[in-house]
Order: sequence, then structure tokens, then C-alpha cells
Amino acid sequence: MSLLEVRNLSIAAGASTLVEQVDLDLAEGEVLGLVGESGSGKTITCRALMRLLPAGELRISAGSIHLNGRDLARASEAEMRKVRGVEIGMIFQNPNSHLDPVMRIGDQIAESVRYHEGASAGEARSRAIELLRQVGIPDPARRMAAYPHEFSGGMRQRAMIAVALACRPKILIADEPTTALDVTVQAQVLRLLLDLRDRLGLAIVLVTHNLGVVAQTCDSLAVMYAGRVMERGPKRELLRMPAHPYTAALLGCQPGSANPAEPLPAIPGQPPAAGAFPAGCRFHPRCPRAAAICESERPALRALRDRRVAACHFAVAP
Ligand SMILES: Nc1ncnc2c1ncn2[C@@H]1O[C@H](COP(=O)(O)OP(=O)(O)OP(=O)(O)O)[C@@H](O)[C@H]1O
Ligand code: SF4
Ligand SMILES: [Mg+2]
Repeated sequence: MSLLEVRNLSIAAGASTLVEQVDLDLAEGEVLGLVGESGSGKTITCRALMRLLPAGELRISAGSIHLNGRDLARASEAEMRKVRGVEIGMIFQNPNSHLDPVMRIGDQIAESVRYHEGASAGEARSRAIELLRQVGIPDPARRMAAYPHEFSGGMRQRAMIAVALACRPKILIADEPTTALDVTVQAQVLRLLLDLRDRLGLAIVLVTHNLGVVAQTCDSLAVMYAGRVMERGPKRELLRMPAHPYTAALLGCQPGSANPAEPLPAIPGQPPAAGAFPAGCRFHPRCPRAAAICESERPALRALRDRRVAACHFAVAP
């Protein structure tokens, strides 16, 4: 059973639709990777799940986001304040923009625990120390008093994860959480996320550009292009034998013959600008397999074998 069930989600800016008809499912303890080129709509999809789209600029124009029997797409702002941080936590690429630079790390975590759980000052402090320990910060009781600038990049990212987990959310949305870190620290933070998944049963939506990260970390994948999901399914099958030409192009191979060990070539051509999507299949101007039908008819997402779905007129599960 899905913990989070997103159906037909569309996001618009004025009259133009930037993200269209996105379906996603997330089960308890599952790590779902969201991949796709820059501008494909990964971040605004994540922000829509938390109802954190910039007001007056972007809005959810269709669809539903079901969590524990409620539709977050229709929840009031008061209800969403009880969801954010409590049921769904979020971490971002840049911890500096989400940690308060003039507040001690320990206070930032403890305040969240007190605000959401009504804990006493002493309980909140113990929980903050425990959280810092869980995310692998050495000597956590002493580190409680540190300010964000006293931490290294990797430690700040860990502290942000501790803040996000302060109220024991079941879901963590992580938008490129390791992109700004060097490779060794990236690997440590990813290991930490997997460890938290194992220990806490945390379900994670992980946005990443890095297919190596996907291969190591995710259980399932959703591949986005030009605001739509092109292919979804279990990671192993999808990486080994992509059914959709776009997934295959991302992997630098032909459908049915992925070799993730190969370096990634850039896909020739540019993705379309938001709101100026081509008719038919949005990938057709760049697709090596495009036929006449692709220019006029939009392929629907179709179920293939092995819990896989793909939006391509010619997709077959290999
Ligand atoms: N506030 C906004 N108003 C209008 N358009 C926006 C706004 N925010 C994002 N967009 C557009 O929505 C599209 C999707 O943006 P988004 O940031 O979700 O892409 P992304 O897949 O996260 O890319 P990246 O990999 O570079 O982070 C882009 O074309 C972007 O220009
Ligand atoms: S529908 Fe056509 S253009 Fe689109 S991915 Fe499939 S073959 Fe390529
Ligand atoms: Mg983004």
C-alpha cells in the first residue's frame, strides 16, 4: 500500500502548464529517485507535495496528493502546517538557505520539537542530542551549542537532516541533497539516508542528476522530461533495460541495452522551454526513434510488465 499517492498532478504558472499529469507512489521504507534533465520539473513537483509553491507564481492546477487518507492538494494552510516537518520532512541542496545562521544548531532542532510536539525544554534538548547522534555528528551534546558556520558542509547537511527529522516524519523529500558536497561526503550522506530508512522505516523521495547515486540508493525511479513522467518502475529493471527512449538516452544507450558503467554522453539538442512544449510526444524533436505519429499524438503512460509504466508509442518492457 502506498504511503503517498500522487495522481494526475499538474502545476501551472499563469496560463502555461509546467508539470502535467504526474503519478507517483511511495511505500513505507521505499527510496524513489526522481531524475531528469534540468528544468524537467523535479523541484516544483517536490515543492507541490509540501504545498510550498511560490504563492502568486505557481499553483497546483489539477490532481491529488493522498497521504493517510487526506488530499494535500486540497488541504488548508493550517492543516499543511501540521503536515510539514511532522509527516513530511524536506531537505535541500543548500543547507545554508534552510538553517538559521544566527541560531545554535541544537536550538533549531529543539525548537521544532517543542513547537510541533509540545515537549518540555529538557525533553526537546534530549531529543535534539539524540537526533544529532543519529545523523552521525560526533560529540552531539557539545555540538548542540555550535552555529551553522562552525560546521563543515557535510556536517551542515547532516544537521539539516536532523532538523528535518525532528518530529519523526514518515517521509523525507530530498532535493539534490548532496550535489554541493564533495564525492566522499556525498557518499557518507547517502549512506546516512539509507541507514535512516532502515532504522526508521523512512520513505524518501530523492531528486538527483547523478545516475550513480540512483544505482546505489534508490528502489524505484521516475524519469521526468519536459514536465511529464516518461517512465516509472523498479530501479534495477529500469536501469538494466529502459523501455523509454528518453531513459535510454539518459543512460547513453539503446532501449533494452543499458550499460550504466559507460560514461554519460549529453543527449543531442535542448529540452523545450517550459510552456513551449512540442505537440505529440514532448521528446520527439530529440528522439532517435521518432515516427510520424510521435509528432501529433501524445503517448499515454501505459502499464508494461514488472510494475513498469512508460509514455511512448513504441515502448515494450524488454
Ligand atoms: N516561480 C516560477 N515561475 C515560473 N516558472 C517557474 C518557476 N519556478 C520554476 N519554473 C519553471 O518550471 C520548470 C521546472 O523547474 P524546476 O526547478 O522544477 O526544474 P528541475 O527539474 O528541478 O531542474 P534542476 O535539475 O535544474 O533543478 C522550469 O522551466 C522553470 O523555469
Ligand atoms: S513516442 Fe515517439 S518520440 Fe516519443 S519517445 Fe516514443 S518513439 Fe520517441
Ligand atoms: Mg531542481
